Amino acid sequence: MRYDDTKSIHSHKFYDEETGTFIPPIYLAVVYEHPDKRTGKPRTVDRGTELKYGREENPTVRALERVLAALEAGDDALAFNSGMAALAAAILALTPPGAEIVVPMEAYGKTLALLREFSRRLRARLRLVWPSTDSIINAVSRRTSIVLVETMTNPTLKVIDVRRVAEYCRDNGAILVVDNTFATPVLYNPLKDSASLVVHSLTKYLAGHNDVLGGAVIGDRETVLGIWEWRTLLGGIMQAFEAYLALRGVKTLVLRVEKQSRTALEIAEFLQDHPRISEVYYPGLDTSPYKPVADKLFKKKLYGGVVSFKVKGGREEALRLMRRLNIIKPAPSLGGTESLITMPAATAASAIPPEDRKALGIDESLLRLSIGLEDPEDLIEDLSRALQ
Ligand SMILES: Cc1ncc(COP(=O)(O)O)c(C=O)c1O
Repeated sequence: MRYDDTKSIHSHKFYDEETGTFIPPIYLAVVYEHPDKRTGKPRTVDRGTELKYGREENPTVRALERVLAALEAGDDALAFNSGMAALAAAILALTPPGAEIVVPMEAYGKTLALLREFSRRLRARLRLVWPSTDSIINAVSRRTSIVLVETMTNPTLKVIDVRRVAEYCRDNGAILVVDNTFATPVLYNPLKDSASLVVHSLTKYLAGHNDVLGGAVIGDRETVLGIWEWRTLLGGIMQAFEAYLALRGVKTLVLRVEKQSRTALEIAEFLQDHPRISEVYYPGLDTSPYKPVADKLFKKKLYGGVVSFKVKGGREEALRLMRRLNIIKPAPSLGGTESLITMPAATAASAIPPEDRKALGIDESLLRLSIGLEDPEDLIEDLSRALQ
């Protein structure tokens, strides 16, 4: 299979001999005959781990993992009950005591909070750096164990040249973990550019309907097996019903991200021309300083479904806009069918220290809009009316 839309539908490879169905069911079972009475040996899933207990493996979750591995061009994947659970297991598996971790100071707030706590407890050194490709590269040395970057920063959508960072990490023996939640595999595959591991919040575009909480890691066989141990110890495996919904959701990933990206560009252009808006952050705009690197990395000339912008008049005017919207709902998530708007300074970016937020320009006039699947004209009308 060459193309993402085909992979998203067929790479689960599920087939039931007894019924002939190729639609993966929801396996609620927690226990499995062990050892297999027919063979006398343990039953295993295709990565070689045993299928005997629900905290270790589940066939519905396994079907989803095969799709995720195919979409991100990895050997293998693991699904977790949230993006944070995936990230926590990955960091625990990959960080030796006394390690040095490099991360841009603009990242999902809870990711920064997790790294801060872990580095304190694991006696690791956390280096927060300016969110630019050059600053990240300059911070990496032979002492660095892990570099964690988001393909597009949250919330001001700076595009990091992951290809350059990955080459530099490889030359210096550092592990590069890429949170590809905002870009999705439809836009970019970090593993193809030799990143070591991809992390996703499945809660966002991959499941895509604002009704599933989940996370995933995707990488080479050995790295994923190491993280599997931690998933088992922490009990973080995704549940079967959520995996079923995510499998169903991911079948339309390409369609959704293509439409969301097209609508996002239209809305970014509308906002850019609006007298009540002072700044628009979207890497697909011709005026964006990140368009060249986005064009270098991203497939299909798509730039994702998130647009951030600043409202003239600060916090009060921004809150007023949020209150006056009808179709676009105020809620702190992204990547789903419903368009959502949030004030990052009060939500996702609140864990960034105030002085860093100030330097990054994340103030209370900044709003982050996640484009859903509504008609672009309805969304523009909603924004236009609310801005009047
Ligand atoms: C970029 C990014 N990574 C990770 C997470 C954490 O994912 P979850 O909420 O599924 O735990 C989020 C959540 O907003 C996110 O935006």
